[in-house]
Parts: sequence; structure tokens; C-alpha cells
Amino acid sequence: MRAQFALAEHEANFATFLLAPHPRPVAEAIERHRRGLDRNAKLYLDELEGVAEQRVREAAAAYLDASPAEFALTGNTTTGLALLYGGLRLHAGQEIVTTTHDFYSTHEALRLRALRTGAHVRRVTLYRNARTASVDEILSAVRRAIRPATRVLAVTWVHSGTGVKLPIGEIAEVLRRVNANRERPRRVLLCVDGVHGFGIEATTPSQLGCDFLVSGCHKWLFGPRGTGLIWGRRESWDAVTPIVPTFDSRAFGPWVRGDTSATNAGLPRSAAMSPGGFHAFEHRWALSEAFDFRRQIGRQRAAARTHELANRLKNGLATIRGVRLVTPTATRLSAGLVCFQVAGTDPTQVVDRLYRSARVVASVTPYARRYVRLGPSILNSPDEVDRALRAIRALV
Ligand SMILES: Cc1ncc(COP(=O)(O)O)c(C=O)c1O
Repeated sequence: MRAQFALAEHEANFATFLLAPHPRPVAEAIERHRRGLDRNAKLYLDELEGVAEQRVREAAAAYLDASPAEFALTGNTTTGLALLYGGLRLHAGQEIVTTTHDFYSTHEALRLRALRTGAHVRRVTLYRNARTASVDEILSAVRRAIRPATRVLAVTWVHSGTGVKLPIGEIAEVLRRVNANRERPRRVLLCVDGVHGFGIEATTPSQLGCDFLVSGCHKWLFGPRGTGLIWGRRESWDAVTPIVPTFDSRAFGPWVRGDTSATNAGLPRSAAMSPGGFHAFEHRWALSEAFDFRRQIGRQRAAARTHELANRLKNGLATIRGVRLVTPTATRLSAGLVCFQVAGTDPTQVVDRLYRSARVVASVTPYARRYVRLGPSILNSPDEVDRALRAIRALV
């Protein structure tokens, strides 16, 4: 499997989740589409536009046990979040609740939404200390956060600043109880930035229990760079109004014919939420090969392997004096991201030294509180984890 990737030799790369390397079937599909578009884009688009995107939705659905009509295709997580948080309909007085743990993309999408529409956004904290966070602590904070005016709960599955994985299923259960007493337009919608769980965890979006799961496909899934999706529960899609015009033929065709009454007729909202305009189609269309490749590996096996490596890393780090682990040990509360501090050394220096001394590729969390972050993935081996641990031990 590792041989399917053109990673630099002699490096132990624990940052492949930042921007995915392409596995061979994906690289070959990109090349095939690129040649077709370079040769005669008109002909190639006639042949594949529409067909290829449907194929992507079908491949995503097959991998995620979902229905093709539940997916909108985007270019990355950030665009998906902006489309979702920009487009969710709110009635007067309704609010969006988010958390202090989310990434820039969620916070900024919500800030811009508030600027444009005056929507009220409130931030809550779900746990005090990442390392000792518990499911009870998180669920209690969610219960306290929800008010009668709350229409949206905007959270992140796996926090890229700490590695904490939220118990989304249990949060959904809390909201189910709240929603049991609410009419449909007042139900709390659970919206999740899923990018650091997507491609790691075996849980499918519908098993997660959220209304919307937004993810890039160019991180842990190892899909084409510049691809992403929004999965929405069938009955939840109605809550969103698209912002960018789709090029789906069911919208574009009637417009061309001047039949405005038929524009969007029969068009699922998920398709209407896939932004139109031309794209880097060679990348977008090769996403079906990425899902097929991952289906061959299997969701369960990828999850088991990633957790095995992350646990090996965390257990090793816990024995090194001078290292403070930030990510929880429990698999229930963590995924592939492992964050830590080395006493007396700035995280950037740690990352530089790991690369210089052992060709171990790490990164620094892009948050005000900075930690060293390693993301063991299905591309890594137990030996590489041990190599990283030896290199870290040599630093302290
Ligand atoms: C939690 C989280 N969401 C979103 C993003 C951005 O993803 P994308 O590049 O797919 O927009 C990142 C990091 O890059 C992240 O850590």
C-alpha cells in the first residue's frame, strides 16, 4: 500500500494529513483526465461532465454507506463550511452555537455570516483540559450550551489544536432529546467539520448522527488535492440555501432554455449546493478512484491501523521525561492527531530538530496555543513511530 505513494524515501512523514500525497490510482486518473482535457476540452467535457461527478458521488456513497444524493462536492473543507454556515436559514432571533476549540475555518465562516446577516453566534468551551477531557464533561457542556433560540451547533469532530475527538454520536443523542420537543424549523442542527476524522474513523456520516458533515478529501483520505464534500442527512438539506450557482444540468439546462420556472426542478439540494463554474476537473473526477482505493483497504482496517500507531506513539511519549502529552489516551476521545510539548523547547524548534536529526516530519498546531503535532496514518509503520520516539527522546 505504501508503494502506491511517491513519498520521499528515508523520511518518516507524520504530516501527510496536511495535504495528501496521491496514491497511484488517483495520480493515474488525474493524468488520464488531464490528457483528455489538454487534447480537446470541449469533447472531453461533453463526454464526462455530469457523468464523472455522478461517479464520484456513487464512489463516495459506496465507501460511506450513504446515498449519492446526500453529497455536495466542494474544493476543500473551508469552502464547504463557508457554503454551509453562509447558507443555513435562520429565523429572527435564532442563534448559532460554536466552540472555542474549532479551527479558523469554522470561526471565520461564522464571523462572516454574522457580519453579512447579523446572525447571532455564541462560543462555548466543552472541556478545560484536553488531556483529561471526558465524555461526561463534554456532554454536560453541550447540554448547558443549548438554549431555546439555538438553531445550529457548529463543532469539529477532531480538534486539530489538541487531537481531542468529540463524541459526536453522544452529542447527537443529547440533541435528539432536545429536538423531540421542537418543531422542525426550530430543531437544533448538528454541523460538523469532520476533516480530521474523515479517512480515519470507520464511522459513517449517518452513524455519526449529525445533520451535516463537512470534509476535505485531501487530508487523511488521500484524495486529490483540491477536493472536498458536504454530506447532509436527506431531511436536513432543506435547511440550506445555496450561495454559489451550481452548473448541474438540471439547473443550467432550464436557464439556457429560458424556462425559469423549471430551474432547479427535481434538483436535490445537495446538487444545488455543489458550486458551479469550471474546476480542476482532473482532480475532482479522480476522487472516485480515491474512494475506490479506500474501499479496497476498508474503513475498519484503516481505523484500526491508525489507532494502533497513534496509541503506540502516545504510550511511548508518556514515558519520556520532559514531554507533556496533550491528546487524550482513550481511543474514544482521540483519532490520528497526537499533540505534545517538549519542556523548554519551542514547538517550531522541535519540528526543525526532528527533521534535521532523524528526517521525521512533524508540524506545529496552527493555533494561539502551539504544540508539536504528529499524525501517524495508514502510510506509517510501527518502526517509523519508534524512530520518531527515539528522535524525541534524544531531544530532551
Ligand atoms: C479542523 C480543520 N478544519 C479545516 C481545515 C482546513 O481544511 P481545508 O484545507 O480542506 O479547507 C483544517 C486544516 O487545514 C483543520 O485543521
